[in-house]
Amino acid sequence: MPFIDRDFINDLSDRVDIVGLINKRVPLKKAGKDYKACCPFHEEKTPSFTVVPNKQIFHCFGCGESGGAIDFIKKFDHLDFVEAVETVASESGISVVYDQNVKPVNTRFKRYNELMSEVNDYYQTQLKSSVAKARAVDYAKKRGISGAIAKRFELGYAPPGWSNLHEHNKADNEKLIDLDTLGMLVAKKDKEGDYYDRFRDRLMFPIHNAKGNVIGFGGRVLSDKDNPKYLNSPETPLFSKSKELYGLHHCRKYSRKIDYILVVEGYMDVIALHQHGITTAVATLGTATTPAHLQTLSRATDTIVFCFDGDKAGRAAAWKALQISLPAMTAGLMIKFLLLPDGEDPDTLIQGESVKVFSQRIDKALTLSTFLFDHIKSDVPFETIEGKTLFLEQASALINLVTYSVYRQQLVEGLAQVVDQDVSYVEKMINQSETSAPPIQGVQEMHEAPPNFDEPPMIEMLYDRPATKKAPDNGMKGLMSKMISCVLNYPVLADDTVELRVRHLPKSNVLLELIHSAQIDEEISQKALIKPFEPKPRVYSRLQQLCVMEPSLSENEARDEFLSALTLAEKQHQRSLTSASISTANSSADEKRIMEEIQHRKTPKSS
Ligand code: UTP
Ligand code: MN
Repeated sequence: MPFIDRDFINDLSDRVDIVGLINKRVPLKKAGKDYKACCPFHEEKTPSFTVVPNKQIFHCFGCGESGGAIDFIKKFDHLDFVEAVETVASESGISVVYDQNVKPVNTRFKRYNELMSEVNDYYQTQLKSSVAKARAVDYAKKRGISGAIAKRFELGYAPPGWSNLHEHNKADNEKLIDLDTLGMLVAKKDKEGDYYDRFRDRLMFPIHNAKGNVIGFGGRVLSDKDNPKYLNSPETPLFSKSKELYGLHHCRKYSRKIDYILVVEGYMDVIALHQHGITTAVATLGTATTPAHLQTLSRATDTIVFCFDGDKAGRAAAWKALQISLPAMTAGLMIKFLLLPDGEDPDTLIQGESVKVFSQRIDKALTLSTFLFDHIKSDVPFETIEGKTLFLEQASALINLVTYSVYRQQLVEGLAQVVDQDVSYVEKMINQSETSAPPIQGVQEMHEAPPNFDEPPMIEMLYDRPATKKAPDNGMKGLMSKMISCVLNYPVLADDTVELRVRHLPKSNVLLELIHSAQIDEEISQKALIKPFEPKPRVYSRLQQLCVMEPSLSENEARDEFLSALTLAEKQHQRSLTSASISTANSSADEKRIMEEIQHRKTPKSS
C-alpha cells in the first residue's frame, strides 16, 4: 500500500470542490448557501442530506453520516482511505504527493519469522545428522516419543558446544543481530559483535503461535543432572511467555472438533497426550495462567479444563487459575479443574493408564464453583462459627470478581446453600465485601484489591469482554478495546495525529495514556506499557487480555484496523453529539449552529 504524504492529506480538503465531487454522484439542489439532496446513505423521501461548501463538509440529519470530501468518496465509492484520496485528487486535477520516507512496515517481522523457521529447520536437521545426535534420539525414545509425534511437533536438537548455531549463521552479520534479538544467540559481554548459542545440548521444542509460525523454543536437558531442566526463549518481539500457549496450533490443526481444551503444565504432557489421541491440549510455558491465556482459550473453545498436579504447587497453580477465571466468565463459557494424583502428570498418567480411564478423569473434573467452595472450605475450620464467617468472607470477595451477572447470581445461590443461609443475607454480605472486604491472603495476587469503583467510566470502558464469541463489538467500548489492542501490539502506530484525534473521543484516557507512552518509546514492551495501570487491578487485567491480538495481525493490518476503528469511533461520537443537539434544534439557525459545531469538532487542530 502506498503512503501518502500527511501534509498533502491535511491540505487536500481545502483544495477541492466538495459540491462538484458530490454532485457528480448525487444531484444536489441549492438551499440558501448550502446544498441539499436525499441522503445516499439511507432511505428517505425528504432531503436531510446537506452539503456546506464554505465548510467543505456534508452531513445528514437523518442518519448522522457526515464528513469531508474524502469521507464521502470513501463511503459512496466503497474505497479504502488511500483510494479515496487518490480519487478525490484526480477528480480535482491534483497530483497526489506520496511519502518517500515511510519505510515499508512489516519487513522486520517477516524477516524474524523466516529466520525462526530456518533455526527450526537447523535443529531438526541436527537431530537427524549431528555427530552427537545419538544421546538426543535415545532420550526421546526413552520418553516414549514416537517418530511420527516427534515429526508432528518438529522436535530438534541443539548440539553440545557454544558455537553451532552461531557458526552456521556467521557469514551474515545482520542475521546474527536478529538471532540475538530473537533470543537464539547471546551477545558476549566482553567482545562486541560476538555471540554464543543460547541453547546447547538440549532437545528442542519449537513454540508456534496460533498462525503456526515458530516464535520461540523450549529446550530440555538430556540428563536430569543438568539444569535448568527446561530453558525457554526469553521475551522477544515475537515471543511473550505470558501470552502464548504451547500446542494451540497443533490443537487446531489436528483436532476435528474442539469440545474442550485441556490446559496442562508441560511440553511433554501435550506431546504425550497427542500421541494417545488427545489432541486438544495446550501448555502454559512455565508461567501461571494469565488473563491473556484465558482470552485466547475462550475464543478457541467453550470448555476449558485446567489440569494440574495434585501436589501443593499444582493446587496453588489451580487456585491462581481460578482467580483469573472469575472475571473472565461469560455466557457459554465453562471452566473446570482437574487435579491429578500427587506425583503424576498427564504424561506419566496417559502412559500408564488407558486413554479411556484418563478421559474419565476429564469427565469428572470439578466445576469452577465446586472447586471454589471446596478449596476455601479446606482452608478454614468450617464447622465453627468463626470458620464459617471466614468462609463467607473469602467466598464473597471472590464472587465479587465475577461480572457476568447470570453466573454471579448462581454463585450467590450456591454460596447461600453451602452456608445454609438466605440468599438475601448472602447477597448483603457480598455487597458489603465489595466496598470493605479486607485483602484475602492468596486470593489477591492477580486482583490485588477489591474492584476499584472510583473510576467507573474507565473500568466500564475497558471491561467489555465479549459476551458472545463471534459477533464483533462495534460499540464504542469494542472500538476502544480494538484500538488499545492494536497499540499494545504495535506501539509504533501511536503518533501525534492519532493522539490528537483520540483526545476528542469520550472516555479515552486509558488509550491516550498508552499512546503517550508508546510515542516516547516505540520499542516499549507490553509489560512496560501497561505497568502504570497495575494499581487498578481490573483495568490492568483487561489490558493484559488485550495484549493478545486475536487473530494476530501484521503491522500493516493492525494499522488499518486501528484507523478504521478510530474513524468509526469518531463517527459514533459525532452522531451521538448530533442526535443530542438535533433533538433540541428547532430552527434553521439552530441547524446552522449545529453544523458549525460539527465542523469545529472535525478540525481538532483549531481547538
Ligand atoms: P515440569 O517440571 O512439571 O516438567 O515443568 P515436565 O513437563 O513434567 O517435564 P518432564 O516431564 O520432566 O520433561 C512443566 C513446565 O514448566 C516449565 C516448562 O515449560 C515445563 O514444560 N519449566 C520447567 C521451565 O520453564 N523450566 C524448568 O526448569 C522446569
Ligand atoms: Mn513430566
